[in-house]
Amino acid sequence: MTVSSYIPSAYKNTLQSGSVTWQSPSNIALVKYWGKLEHQIPANPSLSFTLNNCHTKTTLSYSEREENSVDTFSFEVYLDGVLKPDFAPKIEVFFKRILPYVPFLTDYHFKIETQNSFPHSSGIASSASGMSALALCLMSVEKQFSSEMTSTYFNEKASFLARLGSGSACRSIEGPLVSWGKHQQIKNSSDLLGVKYEAEVADVFKNYQDTILLVDVGEKKVSSTVGHSLMNGHPFAERRFQQAHENISKLIEIFKTGNLDAFIEVVESEALTLHAMMMTSIPYYILMKPNTLAVIDKIWEFRKATGLHVCFTLDAGANVHILYPESEKAEVLEFIKTELVAYCKNQQYICDQIGLGAREIDS
Ligand code: PMV
Repeated sequence: MTVSSYIPSAYKNTLQSGSVTWQSPSNIALVKYWGKLEHQIPANPSLSFTLNNCHTKTTLSYSEREENSVDTFSFEVYLDGVLKPDFAPKIEVFFKRILPYVPFLTDYHFKIETQNSFPHSSGIASSASGMSALALCLMSVEKQFSSEMTSTYFNEKASFLARLGSGSACRSIEGPLVSWGKHQQIKNSSDLLGVKYEAEVADVFKNYQDTILLVDVGEKKVSSTVGHSLMNGHPFAERRFQQAHENISKLIEIFKTGNLDAFIEVVESEALTLHAMMMTSIPYYILMKPNTLAVIDKIWEFRKATGLHVCFTLDAGANVHILYPESEKAEVLEFIKTELVAYCKNQQYICDQIGLGAREIDS
């Protein structure tokens, strides 16, 4: 697929008003996207588990504008029923970027009503689930203009658009495993969009669990945009980008064999490398908190003592995602409740697991 394949030809149908609703999940990267080129092209390929319970539900209502203006947008955004003017700049940038591919954007007034299944101030990024839900809503509108659109094109273009809103959002359309960024061993992999991982995956990964410990809640200290730009001119950038390719190659083999010890090594190393990149950039940041390190220590101790396959990964923040096979759920949840909850803000944690992707909801 090339960029031009997402520029639609003249629409056949006309539409006055209506509304569409999508529910789209968050995702957690096993191999991290960190560093980007122009137009949201990733500096390295990434691979993620799609989540199930952490999601955003968005309703997009559209009504034809009386006078459309070629270069202005008309929209309002609500979170949990409350008007959010502070969300508008991000949506404005998103709309500007995608206008060549979604030319009807200037013809309508849009009401965007959104809600997250996780608390807004939990420190869980809602950009992946939020931008993918919005991109899917726009595709549902576009589908009404061109009824012969295939579901493959629908999903591909939704991912392509979501990427232009927030890079990792392109991995939230499908599941359970999605890669984004060209990788030699992944068929159809692309820098432009996320693709469902279709190669062999051992059963143990099919219902993998992710319990998210909310170690530090609130706004992110380093925005994604700033974070990715830290990789420009970073002394270790080229080696890191190459390492991401190597780690995906390792995971391809691990998914086939179900080797959980090897899985743990790749996943934890990726998480710590992401934070190492932030600690060694200029300016430098430490996004982990003392409790993040305490939790990591506890996980390592517990794993050594029990031989269970529990491991951690991190986002660009202090929260800890604890990953483990479903067969070990009872023991790991007991460990979390007795040993780890104390390190969470207000004892908060979220139980999630690998999911199958976004779904349309009847409006
Ligand atoms: O999609 P963005 O621009 O918010 O970047 C996400 C970056 C990480 O969450 C740290 C890694 C990833 O691949 O999701």
